[in-house]
Amino acid sequence: MCGIIGYIGNKNSIPTLIKGLERLEYRGYDSAGICTIQNQRLKNLKVKGRISGLKKNLEFKNLEGNIGIAQTRWATHGAPSKINAHPHLDCKGEIAIVHNGIIENYQALKDILEKEGHKIVSATDSEIIAHLIEKFYQGDLERAVMRALKLLEGAFGLAIIHAKEPKIVVVRKGSPLIIGKGSNEMFVASDAAALLDQTRKVVYLQDNELATVTANSFSVKNLDGKEIEKEIEEIKWTAGQIEKKGYKHFMLKEIFEQPQALENTLRGRIKEKKIKLSLNLDPNSIKRIVLIACGTSWHACLVGKYIIEKLTKIPVEVDYASEFRYRNPLVASQDLLITISQSGETADTLGALKEAELKRAKTLGIVNVVGSTVSREVDSGIFLHAGPEIGVASTKAFTCQLTALTLLALYFQQEKGISPDKEILEELKNISKKIQLILKEADKIKAVAEGFTENKNFLYLGRGINFPVALEGALKLKEISYIHAEGYPAAEMKHGPIALIDKDMPVVFVATRDQTYNKILSNIEEVKARKGRIITVISKEDSKIEELSDFIIKIPETNELLSPILNVVPLQLLAYYIADLKNIDPDRPRNLAKSVTVE
Ligand code: AGP
Repeated sequence: MCGIIGYIGNKNSIPTLIKGLERLEYRGYDSAGICTIQNQRLKNLKVKGRISGLKKNLEFKNLEGNIGIAQTRWATHGAPSKINAHPHLDCKGEIAIVHNGIIENYQALKDILEKEGHKIVSATDSEIIAHLIEKFYQGDLERAVMRALKLLEGAFGLAIIHAKEPKIVVVRKGSPLIIGKGSNEMFVASDAAALLDQTRKVVYLQDNELATVTANSFSVKNLDGKEIEKEIEEIKWTAGQIEKKGYKHFMLKEIFEQPQALENTLRGRIKEKKIKLSLNLDPNSIKRIVLIACGTSWHACLVGKYIIEKLTKIPVEVDYASEFRYRNPLVASQDLLITISQSGETADTLGALKEAELKRAKTLGIVNVVGSTVSREVDSGIFLHAGPEIGVASTKAFTCQLTALTLLALYFQQEKGISPDKEILEELKNISKKIQLILKEADKIKAVAEGFTENKNFLYLGRGINFPVALEGALKLKEISYIHAEGYPAAEMKHGPIALIDKDMPVVFVATRDQTYNKILSNIEEVKARKGRIITVISKEDSKIEELSDFIIKIPETNELLSPILNVVPLQLLAYYIADLKNIDPDRPRNLAKSVTVE
């Protein structure tokens, strides 16, 4: 996600643009820029880093103008840098755009534009929009934008200005855009947080709508040019609420963002049953895969082992990055080392990556933060496009990591001449909707949480591909509620941990229907016999386990290899609600940092 804002009115736009960017910084913060119209010329100022850097820039002092657009960036294509920051200009320097979203067909359009002589200077997908509008511009900005839109594929929220036209043209197609109404001034922004200091009167654009905004008016059309009547509404939220979109904490917001985040991970990567990943590696040359990471990302590796081995028959090993890097690992050129890291900056993961590179293993990164060190070090990579994950406890990044691992395994199948698993390809289309169904039950999970705020210990048990989900559920609980929790393979209970079971021990079973269902049923009965308090995550209509459970959380059925993506969601919510009920801020748990950049 990025944050975009624009101003047109009777005042200098700079103070409004800066204030708006600061309100939007939670949407992205790796680079920022502002472009204004001064005496019918564009003045464009961009920096790598945060908005505070923009304000310190010497050129900032000379920046003014009653019309301006600005953006704070969360990189999707092109590392964080000054040249990749928005706004982007056309060749003549008369058109400026800021963009929030992803242009899926940017490479094809870039090739055409470069052949026609356009000089594209950045590594972003967004810059081609300015050049495409320039290609069609004949004195009417709105018309040129309309023509350019017919060629753009993907999701975008756009704000565009032309040096010689006193207006801002905005477009919404898959990324939010709002118009704010002042007196003798108007505002545009990617969300209401940026407007709250200026106005509460807003117009929400819907997808496939374009608006032309002047200092005193706005007109809205659909992409066929038909005028649309829009009503002015009132924003009811405070700025703080808006940044969290009404959620109490970023962690809860990010749990609820998972359907959209998974859609973003999948976007443009499955076309006509083909997996589209641009990786410079040949799976046929890989003898073994080693998955390494830390924390939640290491749990994703454990799930990845099941998925990759089942679909590709390539042997997969999993290791903690901190252990791998000091073991003088036996890896070589026929091995593929895959590092998974939300931040792309975890010190142990980087250390392990360097060790593998020294031993000439091929490397691939599955990373959320574009431009992060891991993403720059690896030979190939898959970005999650999950948007900023601000809560210290990882949630949407984990489910997007599992989605990316599934895409990778299907890609390996395809490149090895096996057609990608049809059932999984089909089910990936439904997975976001199934997460939505689980999120709709959040209040029931909160009710379960209310019974466990005083407990001092928890056990989380799972089997097979859901054993790592038990580990992840335990990690979520302990890191934000400070309750000691252990994840175990359910079958391991008899080898010691069952001694812990008594009426005060809550035991969470991940027990959705799969090949080990009957085995986990016996494990539940063993705990029941010893009076453990049983919480089960089960497939809908599972009366057998329901009878044995003290609390049940029902999950939609899905393909076994995709079940961790669904099964982890109630465990994220359970941990969140227990922490919140204990009045602990889950966004800032004690002793923890979002990215462990030290060993
Ligand atoms: C997970 O909730 C924790 N915040 C932590 O375990 C995290 O997953 C780990 O530090 C790895 O971080 P990374 O994915 O950014 O490398």
